[in-house]
Order: sequence, then structure tokens, then C-alpha cells
Amino acid sequence: MVGFKASSLIWVCLSLVLVNWVSGNSEGDALYALRKSLNDPNNVLQSWDPNLVSPCTWFHITCNADDHVTRVDLGNSNLSGHLVPELGTLEHLQYLELYKNNIQGTIPCELGNLKNLISLDLYNNNISGSIPPELGNLQSLVFLRLNDNQLTGRIPKELSKIASLKVIDVSNNKLCGPIPTSGPFEHIPLENFENNPRLEGPELVGLASYDTNCV
Ligand SMILES: *[C@@H]1O[C@H](CO)[C@@H](O)[C@H](O)[C@H]1NC(C)=O
Ligand SMILES: *[C@@H]1O[C@H](CO)[C@@H](O)[C@H](O)[C@H]1NC(C)=O
Repeated sequence: MVGFKASSLIWVCLSLVLVNWVSGNSEGDALYALRKSLNDPNNVLQSWDPNLVSPCTWFHITCNADDHVTRVDLGNSNLSGHLVPELGTLEHLQYLELYKNNIQGTIPCELGNLKNLISLDLYNNNISGSIPPELGNLQSLVFLRLNDNQLTGRIPKELSKIASLKVIDVSNNKLCGPIPTSGPFEHIPLENFENNPRLEGPELVGLASYDTNCV
């Protein structure tokens, strides 16, 4: 009796796995998780139907020739709600454009898995928490615009390892600690750091006064 129950349970699990494997689209699932986490009063996400074979026909989504998602374009779309860790599974994503909305909550550290990401545009939202050091793993990143949010904590020194980075803007946040000076930070104008009352000028060897309360 017990043996029979166990084996039927195994069958149920196995068929669920198979159904998912045959009909599922993991990129569609990740984007649908984002849709469910956002409030969308203007219905810009209405075409995001998880029953379609792939998300490539959804509005505001761009795919490459192999049907992998490369762009999410949802700037200026009156969205609120939160980002989701599932976004970190969109391994072909190059452009994540979510600027000028009213998104709250934190930046998921899983975004650091997006090895092909070129542009992370989250500016003009209401995002809080710290900048995840994992973003230093984004070795294709060129544009990192996080300005006009509620971000706290330090600018992770891990970001200075991104050789491709050309534009960094973290102005109008609540960041603290020193501004890194090496790597891509050498060429970023100071105004891209302004209006962070507790951010301390460029790190000067031996001269920087470190804010010990900055975490
Ligand atoms: C944004 O959504 C709110 C409802 O949450 C609505 O009142 C407002 O008109 C919308 N703004 C625009 C520009 O569509
Ligand atoms: C921004 O988010 C905070 C919570 O983190 C909330 O209290 C505040 O109302 C939000 N601001 C706007 C303009 O929605």
C-alpha cells in the first residue's frame, strides 16, 4: 500500500516535470514573474500571456534570431511594484530598461548573473537598499544608470572591475562612503555622483575621511 502510494507520487512528479519541460519557456516564466510583481495601471503588460510558446511576440520584448530575450523596454510606463530575482535567469538579456517608473524595493543581486547585459537603466524610480556587489560580475556592461532613486550604502568597489563600463550615474540617491577612482571611475564626471549627501569625494589615498557608519 505504502509502496503503491510512493510510486504514484513519483509518477505525478515525473509527469509534472515532463509537462513543464515540453511546454515551459523559462524566459517567459521569468518575465511573467516580473509582470505579477508589478502594478500596471496603463496595461502596458497586457500582451504578456504566459500561455504563448515564447515571450518573443509580447510588446516591449525583443528577441534574437534564436528566440532568446535580449531587450526589456519598459521605460516611462507608469509601473510600480518590485523587481524579481527571476530576471537573473534571462541569460541573453542585453538591455534592461525600466527607467522613469515608480518601482520600489531593492535591486535583486541575481541581476549579477546577466553576463550579456549592456545596459541597466533603473533611473528615476523609488528603489531602495544597496547596490549589489554582484553587479561587478556584469562584464559586458556599458551603461549603469541608477540615478534618482533611494539607494543607500556604498558604491561597490567591485564595479571598478568592469572594463567595458562607460557611463555610471548614481546621482540623487542616499549613498555614502568614498567614490571609487580606478578603472571606469577614472572617466566619470563628478556630477554623476552629486546629491548623495553622505557620499565622500573621490577616494584620495591617505586623505579620505571614511564614514564608519556607511554600510
Ligand atoms: C499612472 O497611473 C495612475 C494610477 O495608478 C493614474 O492615475 C495616472 O493617470 C497614470 N499616469 C499616466 C501618465 O498614465
Ligand atoms: C517610495 O517608496 C517608499 C517605501 O520604500 C514609500 O513609502 C513611498 O511612498 C514611495 N514614494 C512614492 C513617490 O511612491
